Amino acid sequence: PTDRLVDRFGRVHNNLRISVTDRCNIRCTYCMPELVQFLPRQELLTFEEIERFVRVSTALGIDKIRLTGGEPLVRRDLPVLVGKLANVPGIVDVGLTTNGMLLAPAARALFDAGLRRINVSLDTMDPARFERLTRRPGFEKVIEGILAAKEAGFDPVKVNAVAIKGETDEDVVPLGRFAREHGLELRFIEYMPLDAGNAWERDKVLYASEILDLLSRGIGPLSPAPDQDPRAPAVDYDYDDGGGRVGLIASVSRPFCGSCNRVRLTADGKLRNCLFALDETDIRALIRGGAPDSELAEALRESVAAKWEGHQINAANFIKPERLMHSIGG
Ligand code: GTP
Ligand code: 5AD
Ligand code: SF4
Repeated sequence: PTDRLVDRFGRVHNNLRISVTDRCNIRCTYCMPELVQFLPRQELLTFEEIERFVRVSTALGIDKIRLTGGEPLVRRDLPVLVGKLANVPGIVDVGLTTNGMLLAPAARALFDAGLRRINVSLDTMDPARFERLTRRPGFEKVIEGILAAKEAGFDPVKVNAVAIKGETDEDVVPLGRFAREHGLELRFIEYMPLDAGNAWERDKVLYASEILDLLSRGIGPLSPAPDQDPRAPAVDYDYDDGGGRVGLIASVSRPFCGSCNRVRLTADGKLRNCLFALDETDIRALIRGGAPDSELAEALRESVAAKWEGHQINAANFIKPERLMHSIGG
């Protein structure tokens, strides 16, 4: 495309994360409260509206899509949306981030629709702790989902584990072993302040360096992977014995905003130029108000142009966005 989404800091944006619903079938404490008012159906973008926005965005250089939630698989007929987006000219890659609860029966349909990258969230190998963290039973369902995704042909299947000090320290090594055993690409994520209430505290962040330490002592030595993707949030490490790879997403201790290539669309059609953005652009209002493609493109360009240098988690004047993680999609 002649017209790319470049911001004031020279960052080129090619990656659009689309939340397809704010609903979720579990209630992870670090993500959402037990009781939430979900969006009424008519406030969600339809598949046609999402597809239209994606078509417009490809003209500005968006070529990578990731579908998120809430839990994206609670949205009916998700494979239909995957198929639509995978077929948009200019889109090279559609991914999905899911909690895995509904994945086992859906994995093959998703793969057949053209999905190739799948990330499943799993923070513990202990069913009882799973139930405390998610406020719901379902550990076995997630394991089934992960294995079904492998079976369906996804390679790699990535597993996302949010690491919380004092809560999941003891899960680091068991998760590492499980991932090695099944050839999964495990990534640990530093806990970020996007949760309900004010549960996040700096003292609850289990830092990437500490995780690396737990893994190398509990499983075996690791070294930085030779083929790092400088634009991916995760820094990858390989086990020295060749037994697999682990990623560390160090959003708090090593922010990666300098290489950010992402914009986000919420389920109700608001464009966010950062995970922590305080302002949004109402794409849905433009679409439903009859705006032509050129106006949608202009709104996207302006949103990127207005993007700040990066999140302020580590600054004294950090302001948490009003939207919680479940309605941004991570
Ligand atoms: P791909 O790069 O598309 O493979 O996926 P990903 O690893 O970026 O996405 P995923 O949805 O699996 O997110 C993993 C973790 O990284 C989640 O905790 C996200 O909130 C976090 N994350 C993803 N993108 C960003 C980002 O731009 N900034 C920050 N701070 N965190 C992010
Ligand atoms: N900090 C870090 N990661 C989080 N996720 C959800 N809430 C948080 C948080 N407060 C993760 C989910 C999922 C991904 C989209 O974001 O576990 O893997
Ligand atoms: Fe990009 Fe914002 Fe994430 Fe930083 S926090 S990497 S600027 S989305």
